[in-house]
Amino acid sequence: MSRPKIALIGAGQIGGTLAHLAAIKELGDVVLFDIADGIPQGKALDIAESGPSEGFDAALKGTTDYADIAGADVIIVTAGVPRKPGMSRDDLLGINLKVMKSVGEGIAANAPDAFVICITNPLDAMVWALQQFSGLPANKVVGMAGVLDSARFRHFLSVEFDVSMKDVTAFVLGGHGDTMVPSVRYSTVGGIPLPDLVEMGWTSQEKLDEIVQRTRDGGAEIVGLLKTGSAYYAPATSAIEMAEAYLKDQKRLLPCAAYCDGEFGLDGMYVGVPTIIGAGGIEKVVNIKLNKEEQEMFDVSVNAVKGLVEACKGIDETLA
Ligand code: APR
Repeated sequence: MSRPKIALIGAGQIGGTLAHLAAIKELGDVVLFDIADGIPQGKALDIAESGPSEGFDAALKGTTDYADIAGADVIIVTAGVPRKPGMSRDDLLGINLKVMKSVGEGIAANAPDAFVICITNPLDAMVWALQQFSGLPANKVVGMAGVLDSARFRHFLSVEFDVSMKDVTAFVLGGHGDTMVPSVRYSTVGGIPLPDLVEMGWTSQEKLDEIVQRTRDGGAEIVGLLKTGSAYYAPATSAIEMAEAYLKDQKRLLPCAAYCDGEFGLDGMYVGVPTIIGAGGIEKVVNIKLNKEEQEMFDVSVNAVKGLVEACKGIDETLA
């Protein structure tokens, strides 16, 4: 039985980290694709040369030819440009939409059976466009955002409560932008919901509100520190968690930008919701009940995503 094949479209900061993680975890053989000749080949060779010390068995190949992604089981897309300080994710829309078109066509022609995870921002609009351009089934095209936003939320909570992050579960819904909805009610420490922990006096409402806001600004905080690009270690790790759930049929319950048609009262759009990922791709959107306040925040976020999708349609008329 041959190893699974993982194709990475975009061999920049996130792409290189994805390749390294996929190899170390022996998820399969890795193909790095990029339009910048030399970068994918150089990173593939560098990572392959770490194999003897690390002790992994995985083949790595760098390429500028879409034919090399043929037969990929999983494709992770980071092609495009990241933001610089002062930019919002939405500022990337025009340039990255064109990239999604070429990537979607490359996938459709060479690996139409793959499970595709999009990371390129602005995420919810780009994953929608990628699904449209590629024509792949909506349950096989998903966006990585909620796992990352939840991981940031979990990290901040574990520091606040001084407990292992293994015992912190957290949930972030909505679009991957300033309007995302970190769900306080569905986030827990060892199963104890955050509102109960405030009542117990383990933290204050004020502190919790600050953590929620820091989660919303998590990406911008890293951009502000790095100054030359955006986060890549945690985004790559989050996408690998999703890829592993698919390849190993783990049936993980993970928040992702998934296609909702009816769920959450949505009429055919991508936004961050809880999903089950297994061998069938997005096997289920978990339609949790939101209270009034959560629903209002979710609606704001959904409307922000709808605005970006409309902007995409205005730029590329084949999407309309
Ligand atoms: N096809 C393939 N690769 C492309 C294309 C294209 N049409 N256009 C650009 N690229 C490549 C670039 O050559 C670069 O190597 O995409 C890579 C992007 O890498 P980085 O600039 O290092 O960006 P990165 O930090 O990896 O982020 C990528 O993910 O989180 C998002 O906002 C972020 O949209 C950005 C994306």
